[in-house]
Amino acid sequence: MGDDQALRIPRHVALIMDGNGRWAKKRLMPRSAGHSAGMNRMIALAEHAKALGINYMTVYALSTENLARPKDELDGLYSLIKKYFLKNADKLIKDGAALRVIGDLTLLPDDVRAVVEEGVARSYKDAEFTFCIALAYGARREIVNACKAAAAKDEEVTEETLGSLMYTGDMPDPDLIIRTGGEVRLSNFLLWQAAYAELYFTDTLFPDFTDECLDSAVAEYSRRTRRFGKV
Ligand code: IPE
Ligand code: IPE
Ligand code: MG
Repeated sequence: MGDDQALRIPRHVALIMDGNGRWAKKRLMPRSAGHSAGMNRMIALAEHAKALGINYMTVYALSTENLARPKDELDGLYSLIKKYFLKNADKLIKDGAALRVIGDLTLLPDDVRAVVEEGVARSYKDAEFTFCIALAYGARREIVNACKAAAAKDEEVTEETLGSLMYTGDMPDPDLIIRTGGEVRLSNFLLWQAAYAELYFTDTLFPDFTDECLDSAVAEYSRRTRRFGKV
């Protein structure tokens, strides 16, 4: 891309943060060390996304399917959340960002859920930059819940009403979905919202996904032509 061409910054970037376990394995470290490194990278990337002028960044931190992982791995993830969530939430909020969480928090242990809810409650509701964490998130569950909510309200089911009943109801759809870690799939992430997202896959394991890696993904996005079915 020529320097004279202005970079098109996606309004909403979603990120499937995969490869923490393999990153640790390569270093002969426990998987928990990979999750810890991934968590640090995630916080730094949020700052970088904000600086780039991205308005929303949604990160896939824990899927409904991940809840079936061995107890010791889950306990490690939960203790990371309990230890760092509030501290990092306060830092984001201090920087003027809004924090939100999507997913079914009732699937989390009570003490973890309490910490997450407290962090979100302290946050601004609206800001120039929103950092959204998908926790105990599953897209199929989200779609089923939206259908149930529409039925309970006796609301007509249209793309608009269902869209507004998703966890992301008041957010724009992602423009760009990035997956690190080499797998080429969505793994039950934002299936409804991904309808016209640009997809970007990289072999880089998440803890190695630097700020410059995000720049490269945005540059690639900027070169794509989005037609939305038109000619
Ligand atoms: C992604 O990394 C983070 C979570 C799912 C919590 P993984 O834990 O899936 O790492 P790999 O894919 O095994 O390397
Ligand atoms: C997707 O990664 C979920 C998150 C990154 C939170 P997984 O590692 O769970 O996905 P699969 O099992 O390879 O599809
Ligand atoms: Mg994985």
